[in-house]
This record gives sequence, structure tokens and C-alpha cells, in this order.
Amino acid sequence: MKARDFAELLGLESLPEALDAVAEQLIGTIDGSAELAQPAIRMLEGGGKRLRPLLTIASAVAAHPECSVSPLDERVRAGAASVELVHVGSLVHDDIIDAADTRRGVETVNSREGANQAVLVGDFLLARAGIEAARVSKEVAFSLAVTISDLCDGQSLEGAHEFNVDRTTDQALASIAGKTGALLRASCHIGALCVGELERADALAEYGMQFGMAFQLVDDLLDLVSTDALMGKPVNNDAKSGVYTYPVLVALAEDADPDAFRALMLGAKDSQQAADELKARVLASGAVTETLNRIGEYNKLASACLSDLPDSPTRTGLMELPERYLNGILTEKSDPAHRTW
Ligand code: IPE
Ligand code: IPE
Ligand code: MG
Ligand code: MG
Repeated sequence: MKARDFAELLGLESLPEALDAVAEQLIGTIDGSAELAQPAIRMLEGGGKRLRPLLTIASAVAAHPECSVSPLDERVRAGAASVELVHVGSLVHDDIIDAADTRRGVETVNSREGANQAVLVGDFLLARAGIEAARVSKEVAFSLAVTISDLCDGQSLEGAHEFNVDRTTDQALASIAGKTGALLRASCHIGALCVGELERADALAEYGMQFGMAFQLVDDLLDLVSTDALMGKPVNNDAKSGVYTYPVLVALAEDADPDAFRALMLGAKDSQQAADELKARVLASGAVTETLNRIGEYNKLASACLSDLPDSPTRTGLMELPERYLNGILTEKSDPAHRTW
């Protein structure tokens, strides 16, 4: 989906211009020395989908239909910039953990400038996010800080279960809620907070969390069925790095020979053959359908969260967005050779 498609879905004609205004604010906030600023700007300007600031803008309008989108309300612009800064800062750190060399189609900071500099660039982006949030209100700054803490917790839970072939699907889902759900939750929550709609903020926050769960499960599926070129980042990487995602754990639970399956999980680290065999086994199992069903359930839960908000084209668009967006991504980014659904 392009910015124009979102604009139509959400009934927000000037959404593309509003997202440009957020992009300008993002770059405007970067005023450190060149060693920090250059890699930070490279990552910010890489081809990201800008989903989180889009959710902040749409949530602000859904919570408060009089909110100005053209020109974009300054508080919403700062709030939207803050969530994208947290996102990119956390990706810079994630790429150190994953030893990834590309992100958003450009070279990662750990690959070009080194891991030490990547720690600092990630910290710098998170701190700049705090500055943008504090510009708006203490509620926004609080929401963002809670989110960063949850994000660390989710990522840490992932690390704690690395190469644990006994990881349960519930443990995988708990990690996802922190590492990805929390930031989509904040993107929507902060949209409502920016326009002073504190009572409507919780429903939007819960919507963002449910959407975030579905979003990460799609990313986990795409790790199995996409390509580096389509994603702009390395795929087929999760099992190799000991991250046993929901679809892999579902396939394990239903496999006729779980011991052999576990041996493939552990073997994927050093053997491409084991990694390929593991992937083939997951794709041939019912795990893909089960994961797609789970994604569908989260999408439905997300829509239901918005039922008490005032009726508006933006609210209706948000209710449809998770399913429309994620189906679009699954079709666009999956390699047809691997698409089994
Ligand atoms: C990547 O998020 C990190 C995950 C939560 C899977 P996105 O897929 O939204 O990344 P960008 O912003 O488009 O680069
Ligand atoms: C999301 O998880 C990472 C963050 C929330 C920072 P992944 O590790 O799956 O993200 P990708 O696949 O590298 O984008
Ligand atoms: Mg990663
Ligand atoms: Mg991933």
C-alpha cells in the first residue's frame, strides 16, 4: 500500500503531505556531530514504510476528528516523529544483535560504522525521540518511556530463549508483545494523547497492540517466505540466529518426528542444508495456515477495540487497515515460489 492508498482508506486526503512534514521534523531533530548525524540520517531516510507515524496521525484524527492534517497539527507532528525515532533507534540496536548488514535497503550502522558507533547512534535516536515527546506533554513523554522499557523487555525475552528448542508459542507471543506490539500501541496511544483525548487513548492503544501482534507474525512468516531484496533486510535469519518464531514452534508441535525437527532447529545455525530442510518442513506443515489464522484473529480484535470511538471515515479506515495492510504486505513481499496459501 502506498501513502495515497492509505489516504483513501482513512479518508485523509492530505496524509502524504502530513507524512512529509513528519519526515522533515525527523531530519530537523538530528543536530549532533557528523559521526552521529550521518548514519542516523542514512537510517531515517532509508526506505521505511512509515507505518508508525501514519498510525499516530490517523489515531489523532480518529480520537479528535477536528484535528488539522493540512497543515499537520504541530503536536501530532512531534508525536509522530517521536515514535518513528524510537522505531529507527531500536532497529539500529536490533541490527547489532542480529549482526545484520542491511536495513531498509541501506547498509546498517554496525556494518559500516561498527557496533560501538551503532550503540551510540541508537541511543542518540532514542534520546531525540524523548525530546520530541517532551515537546508535546508529560503524558506523551511517559507513554514513550514506558514503551522503550517494554521494547527492551520483549527483546530481552527473545534473547533469553535463543536456541531454546523448548520455547513455547506463548513465550514467543509474550516477546512479540514487547518488542513490536508496544511500539504500535504507543503510536496509536500517542496520537490520541497529542490532541488531548486522554479518555479515548486507551482504546487506540489496545488497537495498536493487537495490530502489532499481527504485524510481527507477518514479519516472522516473511522471514520464511520472502527474499533479502524484497524486504531490504536479511531473511531466513531467525532460526539460524536461534530465534524460534511462532510458525516454527507450531510446526514443531505438530511434527511426526519432533526430535528430528529439533535437531534441524539447532542445526540451522551452522548448516544451510538444515536451515533449508527446516524451512521446507515448516512450509509443508499446517503452521503457515495456523499463523495466518492467528493473524486474522488479532486483526479482528484490533478492529473491535475501536467500536466505541465516534463514527468517522478515519475510524472505519483504521478498523479495516490491519487486514488490508498485512494482506497487501504478504502478497507484495512473499516470494511466489514459496507462497503456499
Ligand atoms: C521492522 O518494522 C521491525 C519489525 C517490527 C518487524 P517495519 O517492517 O515497519 O520496518 P520499516 O519501518 O518499514 O523499515
Ligand atoms: C523486531 O523484530 C525488532 C524490533 C522490534 C527492533 P525482528 O528482529 O524480527 O525485526 P527484523 O526482522 O530484524 O526487522
Ligand atoms: Mg531483527
Ligand atoms: Mg524479523
